[in-house]
Amino acid sequence: MKPREMKKDIYCVGAIDWDRRLFDSLIPLPDGTSYNSYLIRGSNKTALIDTVNPPMKDVLLNNLDQLGVSHIDYVIFNHAEPDHSGSIREVLAKYPEAKAIATPKCKGMLIDRFMVAEEKFKTVEDKETLALGGRTLEFIHAPWVHWPETMLTYLREDRILFPCDFFGSHLAITDMYVRDAGQEYEAAKRYYAEIMMPFQAQIQKNLEKIKDYAIDIIAPSHGPMHDKPQFILKAYHSWVYDEPGNIVVLPYISMHGSTRKMVAYLVETLSRRGVTVKQFDLAVTDIGKLAMALVDAATIVIGTPTVLTGPHPNVAYAAFLTNALKPKAKFATVIGSYGWGGKAVEQIAAMIPNLKAEILPPVITKGFPREADFQALDNLADTITSKHKGAGLT
Ligand SMILES: Cc1cc2nc3c(=O)[nH]c(=O)nc-3n(C[C@H](O)[C@H](O)[C@H](O)COP(=O)(O)O)c2cc1C
Ligand SMILES: [Fe+2]
Ligand SMILES: [Fe+2]
Repeated sequence: MKPREMKKDIYCVGAIDWDRRLFDSLIPLPDGTSYNSYLIRGSNKTALIDTVNPPMKDVLLNNLDQLGVSHIDYVIFNHAEPDHSGSIREVLAKYPEAKAIATPKCKGMLIDRFMVAEEKFKTVEDKETLALGGRTLEFIHAPWVHWPETMLTYLREDRILFPCDFFGSHLAITDMYVRDAGQEYEAAKRYYAEIMMPFQAQIQKNLEKIKDYAIDIIAPSHGPMHDKPQFILKAYHSWVYDEPGNIVVLPYISMHGSTRKMVAYLVETLSRRGVTVKQFDLAVTDIGKLAMALVDAATIVIGTPTVLTGPHPNVAYAAFLTNALKPKAKFATVIGSYGWGGKAVEQIAAMIPNLKAEILPPVITKGFPREADFQALDNLADTITSKHKGAGLT
């Protein structure tokens, strides 16, 4: 994408990655992504905010050429992850006069990863400012959105917040600003679930920290910009602060259909009791969908057969991932089937220590489920329903 003017002397100069389908060799990108980089000219100084993922560095460098940028004073590194800082060597080589601006921690990480010379850097403290001439950048240290070194950059006179990953979304789109709110909500929630959810407490602190800033535009480094910032601020508030909903998430695997039969029965029973249930077959599901569902689920029910004395490996993976994402679920349990014996339930329970959830009685069937097993699932549905009611969840 060619440079696009946001305001006089402020340009989007980053790259849209339409075809990327996997991030960090882990996260599915159904809608691609973008690496947004912003050029700001003051009357005396020029600053570039964030760079782009290394394979797309030519897009950034060409955009700067097209704007006739022959001199950059400051390159702001809000975050050391390579999708935003990976073009550091090329940008500093093209503009050797530029200073790299970063938090002290980010400077260390950039040196560790990209072997940039120490004298290239100027570190900034929390709330420190940099005058560009008629425009002032303020750096807001914001650790753990989603690495320890992160900061946000606020352009005071124009009331634009450049928060890098914070408030971002993996969305390749030509709209500069959010125009399809439904699509953006989905993409931003997916992004929050996968990237930000493990740091809920730190996100609360950072939301608190920016609440008194006057913000007209939020310009993240992935996805479209927000010219109605309340939309994304409100969404983050609800994901971070709200109680979970009257929702059960049910990731499962079944090889021969026994666990699947139990899952189908429990889904039906819970839904008849007014509980929303989201069922995911881990053999085929997009794990981003599972992560999103975990944002506001009150209960997680994991369904697994016993395989080689433990849970099915796909279930173990999902349990491990769920534990790492630290969703706010209040209750959890296991259902499933076995042939002769094993420790699937114990092994799953040991995999989710981060969940602050009460473990409800599991329902484990020998072979295919029969009358007594369906009765046990009815009891589980009753327990979940009354636990949700007791916790005031609607
Ligand atoms: C590769 C494989 C390994 C298994 N290992 C065990 C085991 O260690 N312990 C056990 O009780 N059952 C074991 N089973 C049997 C299954 O747990 C049992 O058939 C169960 O009912 C399957 O549930 P499903 O129909 O939901 O796939 C194994 C089955 C397979 C296919
Ligand atoms: Fe990141
Ligand atoms: Fe990123």
